[in-house]
Amino acid sequence: MSLGVGSDGIFYAYNHIRTPYIYDSNNTAYYFDGNNTSVMNLVTVNSLGVGTSVSGTTGEIRATNNITAYYSDERLKTRLGKIENREWRPHTWYNAQAGTFGSEPTMELDVQNTTDELQNLLTPFIVQMGGIYNQKVLFEGGGERTQQIMNKFSKVRFNRYEPGMIMRCHMDHIRSLFSPPEQGIPVLSMIICLNDDYEGGELVFWDDYKVKPAAGSIIAWPSLFLYPHRVDEVTSGRRWSAVVWCW
Ligand SMILES: [Fe+2]
Repeated sequence: MSLGVGSDGIFYAYNHIRTPYIYDSNNTAYYFDGNNTSVMNLVTVNSLGVGTSVSGTTGEIRATNNITAYYSDERLKTRLGKIENREWRPHTWYNAQAGTFGSEPTMELDVQNTTDELQNLLTPFIVQMGGIYNQKVLFEGGGERTQQIMNKFSKVRFNRYEPGMIMRCHMDHIRSLFSPPEQGIPVLSMIICLNDDYEGGELVFWDDYKVKPAAGSIIAWPSLFLYPHRVDEVTSGRRWSAVVWCW
């Protein structure tokens, strides 16, 4: 029999140890059950497969479903509550010829500016998306000829669509951004989709290309006249999004 406890107090077995549970003697709330739920304090793994085989590449996680950060995080739930409870105002359109802003007679969305807190929360995702877009449209040649399409961006504005609300067709060459304090010509538009539990409310490009992304997605497109878009009527639920324009 190859079994024993060494003088160092360590239990040695020279074949399998078979037991349904392994408990941590210091804290019985920690245990390993390979066929059921395990509760462990600190876990380091080199490679992880979730719902799929592990790749074996150190540092790689492979998952067959979403990876959800801050799941059940109360801080994020509180923040969503703050958006709803702050004051919303009707969206207005800029009249470039008259130099004035005005509301539409149609049922259009409500908007509100961001707080510094929410801006700070969303900025890393905006920068990340800008980086992805920059990589896609880098000019060939590199070196001094390489240009970034996006360097700065406006503050986030939140959009809320109640049932019956739309955003009429337009393009994002937003002239009010040309002057201070932003002072840039928008080249890239981004919509951060904050929820998807509503009916209708598709984002429609060129009258026939409909997009209805999952909550947490960001959609980005060039802000120029070649990308007219609208939001169709929300028929039930509320549609929440955040928008930012980059230059
Ligand atoms: Fe737009």
